[in-house]
Amino acid sequence: MYYPEELVEEVRSKSDIVEAVSRYVKLQKKGGSHWGLCPFHNEKTPSFSVSASKQIYHCFGCGAGGDVFGFLMNYENYTFPEAMKELADRAGVQLPDIQEGEEGRVREKRRARLLEVNKEAAKFFYYQLRSPIGEIGYEYLKKRELSKETMHRFGLGYAGKNGEELVRYLQEKGFEDEVIKEAGLAGYSEKYGLRSQFWNRVMFPIQDKNNRVIGFGGRVMGEGEPKYLNSPETPIFDKRRNLYGLNFARTSRSGNMILCEGYMDVIAMHQAGFTQAIASLGTAFTEEQAGLLRKYTNSVYLAYDSDGAGVKAALRSIGILREAGLSGKVIDMRPYKDPDEFMKALGREAFEERIRKAESSFFFELRILEEQFNLSDPEEKTKFHREIAKKLCSFSESMERENYLKAAADKYFINENSLKGLVERYAAQTGLTRPLERPRQGVRKKDPKESIKRDQRLLLKWISDEPAVHQKIKQYISAEDFTEEPYRQVADRLFGDLEQGKYNLAAIVGMFEDEEEHRLAAEIFSEDLPSLETVKEREKAFHDVLVRVKENSYEYFANQLTESADALKRVVDGKRELELLKKTHISLESGKAIDNL
Ligand code: CTP
Ligand code: MN
Repeated sequence: MYYPEELVEEVRSKSDIVEAVSRYVKLQKKGGSHWGLCPFHNEKTPSFSVSASKQIYHCFGCGAGGDVFGFLMNYENYTFPEAMKELADRAGVQLPDIQEGEEGRVREKRRARLLEVNKEAAKFFYYQLRSPIGEIGYEYLKKRELSKETMHRFGLGYAGKNGEELVRYLQEKGFEDEVIKEAGLAGYSEKYGLRSQFWNRVMFPIQDKNNRVIGFGGRVMGEGEPKYLNSPETPIFDKRRNLYGLNFARTSRSGNMILCEGYMDVIAMHQAGFTQAIASLGTAFTEEQAGLLRKYTNSVYLAYDSDGAGVKAALRSIGILREAGLSGKVIDMRPYKDPDEFMKALGREAFEERIRKAESSFFFELRILEEQFNLSDPEEKTKFHREIAKKLCSFSESMERENYLKAAADKYFINENSLKGLVERYAAQTGLTRPLERPRQGVRKKDPKESIKRDQRLLLKWISDEPAVHQKIKQYISAEDFTEEPYRQVADRLFGDLEQGKYNLAAIVGMFEDEEEHRLAAEIFSEDLPSLETVKEREKAFHDVLVRVKENSYEYFANQLTESADALKRVVDGKRELELLKKTHISLESGKAIDNL
């Protein structure tokens, strides 16, 4: 932990998780919880719940869960200190200077230093572009019809005739060679010493969503290779998790995002007023970038090049968008190559028209597919129809599938019922429709120990719902009986808190910094206890769970006899406690579950 626990608890107690989540997810109160569509996986009916009384969230669909800090870390990709800072700011709590561990402090310092050196380099390039040295660059950008304002807004620059000036400038500003190298701004060679790979290029500073320069792309003047040269990945430059232009696009409020292929495309689009344009960073569009976009919109337009490579890239990105639960549409740029050329030739209004007419990704895929078949040949035509049916099978929701089926039948003049027949046959063969893949994080894996874990979870949940029962069972069950992590640690803390007469579930969840453990801890307190009619039934169910947990722990320690000296005592005591427990009746409150504080 970076901050003292009291301070974390102060911020937590002054932050309401329902309010915090509501800033991103539309929630509706139903029963004791608030429900909404899970932002961490794709769904159409709400299985994402937020509990005001417990101050935790949990998704019954994908298993994501945690406390208010965990939510922000998950959703905004924040580190813990960042989440803490945001919540403290909102709650008006003053934070002291971060008290990180030595390692964290060193890392943060290094990152800050890398950001500084990048900023300084961006300044250097910026002034070079506007000096006599940068005239070629300036003329080039003017020829590409960028206005002075646009060049300024994107901080465009120029890297001069050799790679030594930048290095000298940065050294004079006090940056160590190590830092310059680590930022990917220069490399060392016997022949030239420390020298930048960026020279004779127009420079595009790449900013993160908070406007910090994290890397550069440089376009060569003339015909050199490579045409675009990008900074390598560094501790602050993660190409999978950033998007060019997002610092502006995130506040564009256009209701959609337009994904382009290149830096110049983004800039031309912004200049024409489409400030929702973004691009990946010289690499293919990634899952992480789709996740990033989902925070701002659910509708993404693809404005890729109209050539073969662009079509291929579009097909790939469509899949990634779909997997992330985003609706994708494809803008037809023809007869122009890319948005940059289109904008120059036809301008803003024509592009708006193209947005309106953008093709749904499904029909785009079919159109590309169609080109592979000779539809005047009945055999090939059948093959094409089968491919359509196959694609339709990938819609997991029947309503959506039906709608697309109708539309596809219309468009390709296929009898609707025959197409339906094909789909059904296909579905039967392949085990019906492929369920949507869940995001990796938060997925519950099949686990042979699942039933043991479930019992330990259930018992913890039961005790947290009816804390009075703890006194009655503590002679039989202790934290060590929870053989699975993080349940053992949760039990340890919960039982300790109960002895003190107070407990705070969100704080227990908050103990876990590891994302997976944090999620598992939240899951414990979110699941429902079996709903049973009579007190007698409930007592029986509770007793069964208790015995099973104790039996498991007895076996667990019995298996460890040769390995651990402590095990013997646990086995002997465990045996006695288990026998006793089996004979003992433990009464429960007759009332309903108690809401914790
Ligand atoms: N790119 C790259 N390395 C290359 C070529 C391209 O990283 N050797 C990336 C750049 O981000 C570029 C994008 O891919 O912006 C699109 O490439 P391309 O279509 O070739 O670029 P254009 O924007 O058309 O380049 P220009 O108009 O400047 O010729
Ligand atoms: Mn271009």
